[in-house]
Amino acid sequence: RRSWAEPYRVKVVEPIRMTTRAEREERIAEAGYNTFLLRSEDVYIDLLTDSGTAAMSDQQWAAMMVGDEAYAGSRSYYRLEEAVRLVYGYEELVPTHQGRGAEHLLSQVLISPGDVVPGNMYFTTTRFHQEYAGGRFVDVIIDEAHDPESLHPFKGNIDLDKLQAVIDTHGADRVPYVSFETNVNMAGGQPASMANIKAVHERCRHYGIPVMLDATRALENAWFIQQREGGYADRSVAEILREVCDHSEGATVSSKKDNLVNIGGFLAVRDPEIARRARTLLVAFEGLQTYGGMAGRDMEALARGIHEMVETDDHVGARVGQVEYLGDLLVKAGVPIVRPVGGHGVFLDARRICSHLAHEHLPAQALAAAIYRDSGVRGMERGIVSAGRDPQTGEHHTPKLELVRLTLPRRVYTQAHMDVTAESIAHVTDEAEQIPGLEFTYEPGELRFFQARFQPL
Ligand code: F0G
Repeated sequence: RRSWAEPYRVKVVEPIRMTTRAEREERIAEAGYNTFLLRSEDVYIDLLTDSGTAAMSDQQWAAMMVGDEAYAGSRSYYRLEEAVRLVYGYEELVPTHQGRGAEHLLSQVLISPGDVVPGNMYFTTTRFHQEYAGGRFVDVIIDEAHDPESLHPFKGNIDLDKLQAVIDTHGADRVPYVSFETNVNMAGGQPASMANIKAVHERCRHYGIPVMLDATRALENAWFIQQREGGYADRSVAEILREVCDHSEGATVSSKKDNLVNIGGFLAVRDPEIARRARTLLVAFEGLQTYGGMAGRDMEALARGIHEMVETDDHVGARVGQVEYLGDLLVKAGVPIVRPVGGHGVFLDARRICSHLAHEHLPAQALAAAIYRDSGVRGMERGIVSAGRDPQTGEHHTPKLELVRLTLPRRVYTQAHMDVTAESIAHVTDEAEQIPGLEFTYEPGELRFFQARFQPL
């Protein structure tokens, strides 16, 4: 394959507006130097997240018109159930308003106070719900994942020795499940290999510990397995995705990513008893068992999105190809990024770019603000601010990775948008020593990165 092009053409456009530097200076100060607090109309190219930002297809929009809005027993629910069974292979579907709704239910059903939940690097909302249920998260990802320069092809892998040590220290009965994230977000969108997923599942089966996937970006993980792992080059991503799920007892999914919709998610499991218990909470926290937190039309678009994402391999190939294109431009410009380039975004190594800033002066937060100021491109901090504090000690977690994430919405931006983004990042990197550090002026207690405010030092 020489080069890729998008396997679609554009039918509807949404104008975006370039702002002046003076406007942006003002806007980012008003936003407390937190890109989450900017108004989207003040953003030129919005790479804050790939979550809920996809462009839906004409088929998905058409599907919304036939959504069944019945309170109970909606036809659209059964379409969704069929799609999840076919593509992911889990029998029991528990629909939720988005991924964290599913994480909440799973954590409440399986975790007892004092339990320990091993996982491959944390995700913010996932760990929050594990701790909220009284559990403690323990990171068992391989060491290479914490090294932005390691070229390990599967930096999302679980270290089996670290996993074994957790089981030996706490006992298998204190480990309610292993939380296995596919294409690990906080590591830079890095995949796990099929061999590792299989080995973890076998080890866990030996101890009677279920493996629960965070399958939010399992499609992108399947793509990397096809590209990088021996024996998978001739298998479709649909087959590989199904095989990944076969090595687990269930999954939580934020459908706002792989599944190509703007809202939605689900918990899906094999064990009817876990599903039954989750549904008793579902009706209290989300909605009835046949809609969770979604409208009928949302479920209809989601069912269609699940089929669409695996219909051809070209979809995910072009998606990851665009991320790679941006990554390559930045590497050529000498900007330090996490490598290999991940599935959903390019992660800038803020520690190296802002080497003049101490960790407590929040280099990634400061860099994200500086990029917005330069060009109106919006990224997000994924470092010490996102990592929050240890609930036991009250101290900041100090992650090795101090990153700014430039996340690509699916089917939204063009190659020219990537060129403009890369030019700006290269320019900001060249003059990085001028970027001032930041300090908190407001620090929320939970998931602080969303609403925190800062001021320059
Ligand atoms: N798991 C992973 C790996 C995620 O990336 C996200 C969301 C969730 C769970 C939670 O799902 O947002 O639907 O409730 N990630 C978004 C992001 C917010 O920007 O990375 P949600």
